[in-house]
Amino acid sequence: MKKTRIAIVTGASSGMGREIVRLLAKREEVDQILLIARREDRLRDVAAEVMCHVKTEILPLDLADPSAVSAVAAVLSKEKKRVTWLVNAAGFGHIGCFDELTLKEQTDMLDVNCRALTAMTYTVLPFMRKGAHVVNLASAAAFLPQPRFAVYAASKSYVLSFSRAIGRELRGRGISVTAVCPGPVETEFFDIAERTGEVKLYKKLMMANCEKVSRGIVRASAKGKAVYVPTLTMKTMRVGAKLPHGLLIRFFG
Ligand SMILES: NC(=O)c1ccc[n+]([C@@H]2O[C@H](COP(=O)([O-])OP(=O)(O)OC[C@H]3O[C@@H](n4cnc5c(N)ncnc54)[C@H](OP(=O)(O)O)[C@@H]3O)[C@@H](O)[C@H]2O)c1
Repeated sequence: MKKTRIAIVTGASSGMGREIVRLLAKREEVDQILLIARREDRLRDVAAEVMCHVKTEILPLDLADPSAVSAVAAVLSKEKKRVTWLVNAAGFGHIGCFDELTLKEQTDMLDVNCRALTAMTYTVLPFMRKGAHVVNLASAAAFLPQPRFAVYAASKSYVLSFSRAIGRELRGRGISVTAVCPGPVETEFFDIAERTGEVKLYKKLMMANCEKVSRGIVRASAKGKAVYVPTLTMKTMRVGAKLPHGLLIRFFG
């Protein structure tokens, strides 16, 4: 019996994750999409929107809970499935000085942005074969320490470093790993970030379009790019971030 080719997308209820679901739904190598996030009503809406192209399954999970990823393992071992895409888009950031935020706010960021992404990749890899793609949403924040966004930026440095390293390990197996490093993108991300502090004006002025960035992400990953930085401004930032960080954080901190 032919295995079902499945794409798994976390953060599928909103922003880039939701947009990537819409794009993957039309791809030939995807028979089914597993949509993961906390808001079940949103997941149902996205699933309903793409069901004319692809089968869907929704899995409402709080990825801050360390046991959540075991539910994904259960879905994968239920029937014969081969994972062609894993998109780790779930993530969030809280703005504010390190000791002004609660300890839970800080550690939840690490749990979702780093631990869940790592556990998801580990759990899904045995179901991937040659030609499969892992997409990990890092951020341009990965390039430089950010005062008042310290844990978020550090969590994204982890995602970039982790993705590049395992990308190299998996190259021989024909599995691509793409770390995506966008600057500010117009999604619900900043509504959440601004609950604890104000977004800097320069970030508001350089908001990129979510659909355009998401199209670029899928294209870059399909080509097997190790790192994808969507806009020219952020590409320039990446090069600029090679200057001494002590100097740069005085301007951008
Ligand atoms: N927008 C930007 O400017 C920007 C820039 C660089 C990188 N990024 C990164 O890109 C990724 C996608 O962000 P976005 O801009 O698309 O933001 P978004 O619209 O706020 O989407 C974030 C997604 O993550 C999910 N999520 C958050 N906490 C979760 C939890 N505890 N358990 C399960 N799912 C959770 C949300 O779903 P529920 O709320 O339904 O759980 C939502 O689907 C994130 O990793 C973000 O850090 C964003």
